[in-house]
Amino acid sequence: MTQIFFIGGTGHIGGAVLQKLVENHPDASVIVLVRDDRKAQRLVFKYPQVKPLIGDLQSFDLIEAASLEADIVINTAPDITHDKAIESAINGSKCYYIHTSGASIIWDEPEGSREARTWDDVADIQELTTMELNKTHSVTDKLVRKAAAYVNVAIISPGFVGGMSPSIEHPTPITTPGIVLTARAFKTGFLIAQGENEHAWIHVEDLANMYLLLVEKALASDQSCWGEEAYYFGAAENITFSDAMHSLAPVLLKHGVIDSTKMQSVDAMVAAKASMYGDSYTEEVVPPAADSWAMHIAILFGINMRLRATGMTKLGWKPQKGPIVGTFDEVLSSFLRAEREATDKDKA
Ligand SMILES: NC(=O)c1ccc[n+]([C@@H]2O[C@H](COP(=O)([O-])OP(=O)(O)OC[C@H]3O[C@@H](n4cnc5c(N)ncnc54)[C@H](OP(=O)(O)O)[C@@H]3O)[C@@H](O)[C@H]2O)c1
Repeated sequence: MTQIFFIGGTGHIGGAVLQKLVENHPDASVIVLVRDDRKAQRLVFKYPQVKPLIGDLQSFDLIEAASLEADIVINTAPDITHDKAIESAINGSKCYYIHTSGASIIWDEPEGSREARTWDDVADIQELTTMELNKTHSVTDKLVRKAAAYVNVAIISPGFVGGMSPSIEHPTPITTPGIVLTARAFKTGFLIAQGENEHAWIHVEDLANMYLLLVEKALASDQSCWGEEAYYFGAAENITFSDAMHSLAPVLLKHGVIDSTKMQSVDAMVAAKASMYGDSYTEEVVPPAADSWAMHIAILFGINMRLRATGMTKLGWKPQKGPIVGTFDEVLSSFLRAEREATDKDKA
């Protein structure tokens, strides 16, 4: 029986991958690293065939031992600063290790500019695999590539991930809170400069199909898609921030997050402050630290991340979900409902 060890299986991305694994490979034994008992109970309630393993990204010995038992290790947990956990997973992996990185490795300046190159994961593979180590994700990407000498590795590097996930813990995308807080601060739509910068987006289910495809290649012992250059962008379409915001603003208005679909042009630093404070934002608030998540979110509003997923396309992957803007209403409804439920719970 195939054994799969899964790190990050409760996440937005991981939950979508787990669902597809369970549906398509009901006989596989899947062990999921879970941070606490309550999450483990919820996971087993939804997927009785899945075995939770309680631990976190500091549980190095546990991760190594579970990886050693597995035929395939899938990691969709955060990579940055978790080098040691990744090393433990790879040290244990004897066959296949599928890693999650991120395309912020190629972000440019957050100026809302139209001028940018398109990055292709096949044509530009030499540059992508030799990035300076100060680029986001490059330290951990390098660590994974180094292991290609003794284990079959592949890196999936998503652009922005959207859409609803079957994840039990994180059904809505990780970027949603930052976008909602920023919109609440301005009470309108917002753009960095004119919002001409372009972003690659992918629906989480289309992204999950990339992981499934690699799992199926592993099960077929197909050696063609692993190794130092097995770096796959997770991207289905490129859209300007302005187009995305013009689709999002009516949805934000409908749900009462903003008062008008008018667009405000701001710079990334102002957006960074707004994204931290939401309703209580004023111009005087202190900006977030340069290496904070809030700053990362605000910068992403203004950068270009134009991607072409040639590697996965060559393997036969095709996006099946429609344009990402079609998901905004459902995502926002779900996010705001969960936010209201959490507030009501706090009050009770
Ligand atoms: N989503 C995107 O737009 C995007 C784009 C590019 C790259 N990525 C990369 O993909 C990763 C996953 O994205 P996501 O959207 O699926 O995030 P997510 O919904 O926050 O899921 C993260 C997963 O990792 C687990 N996790 C986090 N910290 C952990 C720790 N210290 N120990 C053990 N488990 C831990 C979470 O467990 P809990 O359920 O306990 O929280 C969850 O299962 C991101 O962190 C990023 O590196 C994401």
